[in-house]
Amino acid sequence: IGTIGVLTSGGDAPGMNAAIRAVVRTALSKGLKVKGIMHGYAGLLNEEFIDMGMRSVSEIIQRGGTVLYTARCLEFKEMAGVIKAHEICEKNGIDGLVVIGGDGSFRGAQDLSNVGTPCIGIPGTIDNDIACSEYTIGYDTAMNTVVEMVDKLRDTANSHSRCSVVEVMGRRAGHIALNTGIACGAAVILVPEQDFDPERDLLARIRYAQECGKHHFIVMVAEGVGKAEEIAQIIRDNTGIDTRKTVLGHVQRGGSPTLRDRVVATQMGYHAVELLTQNIGNRVVAMKNGEIVDYEINEALSMKKGIETKLLEIAHCISI
Ligand code: F6P
Repeated sequence: IGTIGVLTSGGDAPGMNAAIRAVVRTALSKGLKVKGIMHGYAGLLNEEFIDMGMRSVSEIIQRGGTVLYTARCLEFKEMAGVIKAHEICEKNGIDGLVVIGGDGSFRGAQDLSNVGTPCIGIPGTIDNDIACSEYTIGYDTAMNTVVEMVDKLRDTANSHSRCSVVEVMGRRAGHIALNTGIACGAAVILVPEQDFDPERDLLARIRYAQECGKHHFIVMVAEGVGKAEEIAQIIRDNTGIDTRKTVLGHVQRGGSPTLRDRVVATQMGYHAVELLTQNIGNRVVAMKNGEIVDYEINEALSMKKGIETKLLEIAHCISI
């Protein structure tokens, strides 16, 4: 293997730049050449390549977003697009590819590996919803952003004896909501992995907290459960508590990555290049019991990941 490509795909996540940097520096130190591919798979199909040297990735480890930009690409979902991408790789001497992104990006990496360009996926998403890995790049930074924001909401909810309903991201997963709900002392945490009964899971808990002397409340809602405004309305209609909603939105995707995201991204980037240098493709890098491992993409995509049930139990016990 002589030259590798690196791209970021799907939603961006803080720490993607640290992963790009690790891929580039590891590859160069092993005598490989690196092409940065702009705008994800779309940029691959448009041949948007830049040659990466040691200094091309200077000053990016601390930056959020992705210096290679990212995009969602419909053409790449079709087999014709995948074959075209493979031909472009061959024409440009790209012998292997590192794809930093989520599940959707790995499906593309699998297809491209199958037609002859070995690809390695690195899990980059704030949602932590990649089944094969206990950790995804961006997760820690996003959660720390949520905690910082909700601490501010708490001050004003407290002053006004209000209820603050906070909607956080996570797509169909509740990992961000559960962990930040615990960290922010939420009275109620709603995650999509559990059935939601408004009386049992929301109103009864708020009433009980009121009986225990609480006069302000944080309700943490994962976006996969529903809209914050609908939850807020249920609370207003049934308790009379002055309730406001906040949808944190894309602020959760930005900002300087935390130490954890920088270190994990670096470990994963290094591991991805090690695989490619051994001519191994069609794998996803993952974390298992704190160690960096890898799985065949097909196997990775068929795996399932649940919510941390013990954490839910703890949250239920102490969130009053
Ligand atoms: O996957 C990351 C994520 O931020 C999800 O939490 C959210 O549901 C989605 O992406 C938002 O996507 P978009 O950036 O297209 O609005």
